[in-house]
Amino acid sequence: MLFPDYRPRRLRQSASLRRMVRETQLQVQDLILPLFAVEGKDVKNAIASMPGHFQLSLDHLVAVAREAHELGVPAVILFGIPTKKDPMGTQAYAKDGIVQRAVRAIKSKLPELTVITDVCLCEYTDHGHCGVVKGQTIDNDLSLDLIAQTALSHAKAGADMVAPSDMMDGRVTEIRNVLDEAELSHVPIMSYAAKYCSAYYGPFRQAAESAPRFGDRSTYQMDPANAREALREVSMDVEEGADIVMVKPALPYLDIVYRIKEEFDLPVAAYNVSGEYAMIKAAAEKGWLDGPRVMMETLTAIKRAGADLILTYFAVEAAKVLNDR
Ligand code: PBG
Ligand code: ZN
Repeated sequence: MLFPDYRPRRLRQSASLRRMVRETQLQVQDLILPLFAVEGKDVKNAIASMPGHFQLSLDHLVAVAREAHELGVPAVILFGIPTKKDPMGTQAYAKDGIVQRAVRAIKSKLPELTVITDVCLCEYTDHGHCGVVKGQTIDNDLSLDLIAQTALSHAKAGADMVAPSDMMDGRVTEIRNVLDEAELSHVPIMSYAAKYCSAYYGPFRQAAESAPRFGDRSTYQMDPANAREALREVSMDVEEGADIVMVKPALPYLDIVYRIKEEFDLPVAAYNVSGEYAMIKAAAEKGWLDGPRVMMETLTAIKRAGADLILTYFAVEAAKVLNDR
């Protein structure tokens, strides 16, 4: 009988051998946990489509951040839900806005935890768009100043990193300039560089109460059909001074993650978004999928495609699995 010289199964025969030749190592330090901050005290509103996630008042927010920190998760990214919204999203850049206070609360209790803030207007505008509305359109250049002021107010509150998710053209330059002028040149920018106009954001918009009241985000977020355009978006953001570039969503866009990792030498982040989380949780609840295994396989796949960092609602759950190994 003739055998091939190379028998791939030789290196698969024991857990020890498999571990030795494993190419991708998902680690706790790859994970970033998104959190939703709301006003009030002792508030913990369950988000129906994101089991295990809540809108949290600052007391609970700090407690959840502490749990993540103690498990070795290096960073959280904060989203704010203000009590009042207006056309210009003024609470986004208010000194005592919900995110600004959340940053101070976490940093005062957990100084070693990296606190990233999502920089956008959609949670703060009454129309729900990520920029300033003029007539029926989103005005790019009018939005830039407000976006930059939002990033500045987060950094002044003590944010370790700012992450603009608005997709306005030129916002990284604007933010970098404003931060540098305020002697905050040490604050890195993680830009949502290739952010697609995706239906996978559905559960998040429920959680953050940020769905647009008219139209959709297709005039500023990317067309899901485009890949080469993502490379242009990333190279723009790199030239403008982004320190980390993000692809979002993650799983349906792993080809984009791969191409960006090949082409650029900055750290690449991928956002395993709310809809990706909800699909796994829903199927697991029905008993149709093994939730924990699908979670680990998914996160490993995102890292294998080239992501150095993964923003994920699974951060705490995955950290527990990784720490038990
Ligand atoms: C706001 C923002 C969104 C997400 C992150 N920042 C939603 C959107 O663009 O509508 C999505 C996150 C998720 O779905 O988990 N610009
Ligand atoms: Zn937005």
